[in-house]
Amino acid sequence: NYYAVIMAGGVGSRFWPVSTSKFPKQFHDMLGVGETLLQRTFNRLTNTVPYENILILTNDEYLDLVQQQLPEITKDQIILEPAMRNTAPCILLAALKIKKKNPDAIMLVAPSDHWIQDDEAFANDIKTSFEAVAENDMLITLGIKPTFANTGYGYIQFKEEADKCLQKVVKFTEKPTLRNARKFLEEGNYLWNAGIFIWKASFISDSFLSYLPEMFHLFNEGYEELNSKRERAFINETYPKAQNISIDYAIMEKSDSVYLIPASFDWNDLGTWGALHSELAKDDYDNAVVNSSLIPMESKGNMVYTHKHKVVVLDGLEDYIVVDDEEVLLIVPKEKEQDIKNIRESVIKKH
Ligand code: GDD
Ligand code: MG
Repeated sequence: NYYAVIMAGGVGSRFWPVSTSKFPKQFHDMLGVGETLLQRTFNRLTNTVPYENILILTNDEYLDLVQQQLPEITKDQIILEPAMRNTAPCILLAALKIKKKNPDAIMLVAPSDHWIQDDEAFANDIKTSFEAVAENDMLITLGIKPTFANTGYGYIQFKEEADKCLQKVVKFTEKPTLRNARKFLEEGNYLWNAGIFIWKASFISDSFLSYLPEMFHLFNEGYEELNSKRERAFINETYPKAQNISIDYAIMEKSDSVYLIPASFDWNDLGTWGALHSELAKDDYDNAVVNSSLIPMESKGNMVYTHKHKVVVLDGLEDYIVVDDEEVLLIVPKEKEQDIKNIRESVIKKH
């Protein structure tokens, strides 16, 4: 009765121009390892649940990409969203679907765009979490040791003395202000939320009933009686009416049943070109490349990505992102990597 759902409906806008709304980063082989992020995630999860129990949640625009990249899965394993509503609605739908298949089901929720290398340590942490939620009504999240005041993550406060494996979360704060993020880091008893959750399908759907009753009723009314032919039409009808909100704001910040297991694996959110740079092997001058051969002349700390093999010559360039995509050439200082999201929007408006 173990299930996993992969959330693969994000756009990855800070990885523009490679990640686009037609072809987001989870469908790319961002690290040049021969597998896309989605394929890596799927393969990692097969160590924790049977592959026929893995569901993919994504926007209906990406159906072809999912089927091309995971040809072994059936249509029933894919939930297609007709609109972008962030992670809460798709998680609730998945929970209802899984609960209907098996009322005692335990589910793992995973993002599609993270880089984790140690699949064995990951599987061990998931096993520990599965055992804990089988016994108790808990919402478990995996915690990562923070390294800087990143404002794009959730912060999980734990009790100082408790460095044991499973612990109750004192407070969950999604995307704090820079001031608070710095404070949390100084205080020390915070971990980043990895965005990987484990719970009973029935308990997360009860939590929606408690904290987001409107969304719960929107999807729950009628779902039980639905036959599989009507499912697509039901989702198309109800989904656009759902509130646009992430699971972190909707449930994790509010519930008093949130528990934490510190992750024992390496983890990288791969949210930006800088994060990709830190994950890749570097040359003697701290330059990282994907798909290209770089000839660095007095150049260091650069992230170079070309969509196909190319010889790139950089002279006198330091700490830059250089991305050569089919239609766009982007050259931006690494310190401005967060601005790429806005750059993308203004370019889309003009072209
Ligand atoms: N199916 C579906 N539908 N998936 C979605 C949608 C959607 O509408 N929106 C986002 N996703 C997917 C993304 O593709 C990604 O794999 C995952 O859900 C998380 O979404 P992000 O948009 O990347 O969230 P975030 O990075 O801002 O924040 C979350 O992850 C952080 C760690 O990476 C939160 O959980 C934070 O608390 C956490 O620290
Ligand atoms: Mg993310």
